[in-house]
Amino acid sequence: MSYAEVYQSWKDDPEAFWMEAAGAIDWDTPPSRALDDGAAPFHRWFTDARVNTCYNAVDRHVAAGHGDRVAIIHDSPMTGSVSKMTYAELQNRTALLAAALTAKGVETGDRVIIYMPMVPEALVAMLACTRIGAIHSVVFGGFAAHELAVRIDDAKPRAILAASCGLEPGRVVAYKPLIDGALEQAAHAVDFTIILQRPQHPCALTPGRDLDWNAVQEGLEPAPCVPVPGDHPAYILYTSGTTGAPKGVVRDTAGHLVALHWTMRNVYNVAPGEVFWAASDVGWVVGHSYICYAPLIAGNTTVVFEGKPVGTPDAGTFWRVIQDHEVRSFFTAPTAFRAIKREDPTGALIKDYDISSLRALYLAGERADPDTVHWAQRTMGVPVYDHWWQTESGWPMVANPAGIEALPVKVGSPTKPMPGYDIRVLGEDGTELPAGTLGAIAVKLPLPPGTLPTLWQAEERFRKSYLSTFPGYYETGDAGLIDEDGYLYIMARTDDVINVAGHRLSTGAMEEVLANHPDVAECAVIGVTDPLKGQLPMGFVCTNKGTTRPEAEIAADCVRMVRDSIGPVAAFKLVAVVNRLPKTRSGKILRRTMVAIADGSDFRMPATIDDPAILDEIRDRIRPLGYGGTALEEPAPPRT
Ligand code: COA
Ligand code: AMP
Repeated sequence: MSYAEVYQSWKDDPEAFWMEAAGAIDWDTPPSRALDDGAAPFHRWFTDARVNTCYNAVDRHVAAGHGDRVAIIHDSPMTGSVSKMTYAELQNRTALLAAALTAKGVETGDRVIIYMPMVPEALVAMLACTRIGAIHSVVFGGFAAHELAVRIDDAKPRAILAASCGLEPGRVVAYKPLIDGALEQAAHAVDFTIILQRPQHPCALTPGRDLDWNAVQEGLEPAPCVPVPGDHPAYILYTSGTTGAPKGVVRDTAGHLVALHWTMRNVYNVAPGEVFWAASDVGWVVGHSYICYAPLIAGNTTVVFEGKPVGTPDAGTFWRVIQDHEVRSFFTAPTAFRAIKREDPTGALIKDYDISSLRALYLAGERADPDTVHWAQRTMGVPVYDHWWQTESGWPMVANPAGIEALPVKVGSPTKPMPGYDIRVLGEDGTELPAGTLGAIAVKLPLPPGTLPTLWQAEERFRKSYLSTFPGYYETGDAGLIDEDGYLYIMARTDDVINVAGHRLSTGAMEEVLANHPDVAECAVIGVTDPLKGQLPMGFVCTNKGTTRPEAEIAADCVRMVRDSIGPVAAFKLVAVVNRLPKTRSGKILRRTMVAIADGSDFRMPATIDDPAILDEIRDRIRPLGYGGTALEEPAPPRT
């Protein structure tokens, strides 16, 4: 079947489409129907089924005789080690950790926070939770104690599973002080933590609270998989919204299994037993879906890579990993390729490696700029597929379905909607816009299986954030257009979310931190264009009248505060102290105008601006930071 036929078959009969896809999953009680729209606009999938995620990702492959197949390859240039774990070993390790959780009183529905670097035990931890129906919430290691505390207070976990440290180039990130700090800040207390001691930086365990990863499992019988209802939450993943309070995106169990399995063959074009590599981090949705769950559900070998695209040890690392592990499909963020291109512009290093195993490169997480796509195509000699999705969707909304049919690539477009997604571009009043017209990108409800059914204990916030602007649609928060051939183009976010090196961050959260500085009267944070990371946050602060502290010190405080509160991943280093912020006459800060000034792009003076002269000061203050001068690269116009 062609892509058009597959997509049409879903449109004609979504229920039949998803019930057929559900045939790939091993059910304890099979579903009698796919969609449950009894509480529309809140939709649930496969609600009357019973199923276990870990069984489908691990045990069933062992039961089918593939226990010797490699499930996880851990390749760590940070420690100079490579190790492999078969499906049988993964089953054993997962079942023992699950037994330890059970022995300590963790039950189905309890939450468990996972705070771990890129080690195979991170996947073991996720799977051990889903094995017993506990709901995990993985927190990215680059977040600081405060962000961890916010998540602890929202998820109210029974336990934290962590490692003693993460490894960043040139420094060890000790996790224990971060965990201690977070637990001190949080109102909620956990019953216990389980800590994986890494030889690079073991930590002292707090008696009565911290347990050793290995010791806690000793002498236990492996725990069986616990079947849960189809709409039981498998995990919560916090993501940035417009305020400092992150959104707890909930993923259900059955829809997640069905949808992820479908994508491995149809989007990523890999067969069971083949090696799939997503170079991301378990702390992000890409890590959840495509380092951990999807490749394992589909019986692939997944690569857990602990390193960076450059500097570990050089810009040839990706090519080495592809060669050494015979990677078939590779997924990363465009920023990683921009980093490689900057170090090795001619692609000289790739000549030392044989990457003939590779079929295609998949890019997502941020806009794939045409320069980077062309460079990757030229250097690697394989198709480069941009695809578009978000934490909320959990799997690609718009992609090139290479496993069904490789559609012609239009550089700048992530291609076409996947089955399940009826994507429309809407005007402010909610009317559908004609082809080629820029508007808000929305998905007609219901969203397909595997997407978020709600936000964790925040149904009203879910409704307000996603369902209320355009009744009958899910609002993606992205703006763009669909061309006459049905190709989608993503142009910008419609909210205050920015994307820094493929990491989704909230400028609102950073503003909340800056506002806590005793000398700061008012502030704004915007995302400015950066040739490596796509965007960087830039802060503007107005000080209180009579402040005597030098501006440079206030700026340095601000940088430190964001790093300490949100984490190094915010990459917040640009601060300008200004007398006033540009505002409309009604007091709204003109952030878009500030972005245009910083990026050196043309803009129309807002008619409602209170005092245009303020813009000159903004320009003067950001020039020393290297911004506000000549125009940087503009987004490529879509080819319609
Ligand atoms: N734990 C602790 N700190 C972390 C971290 C982690 N897991 N991940 C990143 N950090 C720190 C970095 O050490 C850096 O700290 P520094 O300010 O002291 O240097 C800071 O957070 C910013 O990190 P990053 O944005 O990753 O920048 P970088 O300069 O270290 O590397 C790239 C730049 C492009 C090489 C890197 O961002 C990259 O590999 N990106 C790939 C994108 C990706 O995987 N996205 C996930 C979604 S698909
Ligand atoms: P996250 O939830 O962290 O995956 O971030 C999702 C957001 O990243 C989307 O809403 C987009 O703004 C952006 N994004 C993801 N993939 C792409 C893409 N292929 N092209 C442009 N933007 C993207």
